Amino acid sequence: MSKQRTVIVPSSEGISVDTLSAEVAHWLSAGDLPPQLITGHQMIDLEHRFLIGAIANLRRICVDQFAFNNCIGCGKAMQERCENNLIGLLGDVFSFILDHFKNEEAIMRESMLLVVDRDVCQAHMEDHAEIAAKVQEIVSALDSLHVVSRIRELDALLTRWVTNHIALHDMLLSRWVLRDDSLLGRM
Ligand SMILES: [Fe+2]
Ligand SMILES: [Fe+2]
Repeated sequence: MSKQRTVIVPSSEGISVDTLSAEVAHWLSAGDLPPQLITGHQMIDLEHRFLIGAIANLRRICVDQFAFNNCIGCGKAMQERCENNLIGLLGDVFSFILDHFKNEEAIMRESMLLVVDRDVCQAHMEDHAEIAAKVQEIVSALDSLHVVSRIRELDALLTRWVTNHIALHDMLLSRWVLRDDSLLGRM
């Protein structure tokens, strides 16, 4: 995985966690993966922790991302600050996505899951492609008066990724690699 920048954004009070289940929200505020989303594969879990950190940083950008329809009321200086913070975070998330998906797809090939169950891997890779395309859509829709909308969209996307993609696709891949007779799992 390439070196990632960490965007430090000022903390704000009263961050809403409405879009997360209470349990995931708890682990997010603790900065860690919920136990049910720990795959047991060291590299994959380490990279997923970056994702949790990205959601936490994203939620510190806007004063109240769930209340504002647009950024007009915040004034130019604040709009610029929020937009720059979001651009930095999107850059980090996009470079993370490319590395992380490439790593998981290499594991699919090296562990032979791609040969043993091509359909499972195909569905997993399609989900990766969809997540990457959605991040690109958010990047291309950036504008300084609607930063809050892009924050909400990215929040929903990353949260869905954490709760659905990891629980389904990544868990299956890790179980395959870590099964008792897997050579790769013992390396
Ligand atoms: Fe994945
Ligand atoms: Fe993953």
